[in-house]
Amino acid sequence: MADTDSSDAFVAFERVQKSYDGETLVVKDLNLSMPKGEFLTMLGPSGSGKTTCLMMLAGFETATHGEIKLDGKPINNIPPHKRGIGMVFQNYALFPHMTVAENLAFPLEVRKIPKSEREEKVKRALDMVQMGAFGGRRPAQLSGGQQQRIALARALVFEPELVLMDEPLGALDKQLREHMQFEITNLAHSLGITTVYVTHDQTEALTMSDRVAVFDDGRIQQLAPPDQLYEAPQNSFVAQFIGENNTLIGTVKSIDGEFCKVQLEDGEVIDAKAVNIGEVGTKTQVSIRPERVEYNRERMAEGVHTLKAEVLEFIYMGDIFRTRLRVAGKDDFVIKTRNAPDQVRLKRGEQIEIGWLPSDCHALDA
Ligand SMILES: Nc1ncnc2c1ncn2[C@@H]1O[C@H](COP(=O)(O)OP(=O)(O)OP(=O)(O)O)[C@@H](O)[C@H]1O
Ligand SMILES: [Mg+2]
Repeated sequence: MADTDSSDAFVAFERVQKSYDGETLVVKDLNLSMPKGEFLTMLGPSGSGKTTCLMMLAGFETATHGEIKLDGKPINNIPPHKRGIGMVFQNYALFPHMTVAENLAFPLEVRKIPKSEREEKVKRALDMVQMGAFGGRRPAQLSGGQQQRIALARALVFEPELVLMDEPLGALDKQLREHMQFEITNLAHSLGITTVYVTHDQTEALTMSDRVAVFDDGRIQQLAPPDQLYEAPQNSFVAQFIGENNTLIGTVKSIDGEFCKVQLEDGEVIDAKAVNIGEVGTKTQVSIRPERVEYNRERMAEGVHTLKAEVLEFIYMGDIFRTRLRVAGKDDFVIKTRNAPDQVRLKRGEQIEIGWLPSDCHALDA
């Protein structure tokens, strides 16, 4: 599912594998190519190999197999000071004996930027992370979130061509986090910085990135722009991992081009898009987004297949209604509907019929 055309890529992983102990592969056959200026996020559960990939790209770990290229050249052949990579690690290591301002000036000194320019750049970077007043402090005199912001400023202060960030906002509160998400993407796009960003937070990944690589078990499960990832998941892992999803288990009854019929465990048959299924008779996991389910007959497309449902819970959330249903013997089927003036508010115990467009219902691997 990862792209392999890396001929004019700025960053390229080509068939990369990594084992720390010579036995288990923590990265298995990774192919990824990024054009210059792209903001790419690696998203995935703990232990799926995200940090390992960043460390290899930074040149701190070597790939067991395969090759990593930066601007067409194998990373191992580029000396560290010529790599032009800004980094924020998961454990933001600042130089403890230097003040905040000295920490930020350091990457500029190394690059022989004149003093007057240095001061200007340090100030701008500190302002960006809202730490303008803290230039004279030492890292030990800062909170965890403040240290994290300084680490972020230090990675960006010399306007690197490539920035690698590993959970750079993990220690920040929601408001500051959202502010920094905006600042980082803005800066990266306006300076044309190529960014590889790592996070556990799927909302962060969806809102910040040009493309997201969903990792699991040392592999990229899907690499796509946020809307595609959300609306067209290629397998059940991605469907479950990104956003909320309803799943129904069934058996493939028939396949007709792009679409198929699936018989659910209770015998009912539904129409779905044949995304990732085996032949007729095999199991499939069908996945439907809560906001794509309709219960208002007038709002349903003509001829859509419907299922019987019982209302178990109706929650008024202001902008939306969130309703939990019993569908096909399952008690955890959730639908979300917009609080429109003509929208019906359901009541507990009510028997309804729900429907959706077959193109919104994805038959995936079980
Ligand atoms: N230096 C190391 N030596 C041996 N094994 C390691 C080392 N670093 C990581 N691993 C193992 O490699 C696998 C991938 O780890 P990695 O740190 O890349 O995961 P991650 O996706 O960044 O996870 P998290 O979200 O928790 O940071 C894990 O099973 C981990 O235990
Ligand atoms: Mg990690």
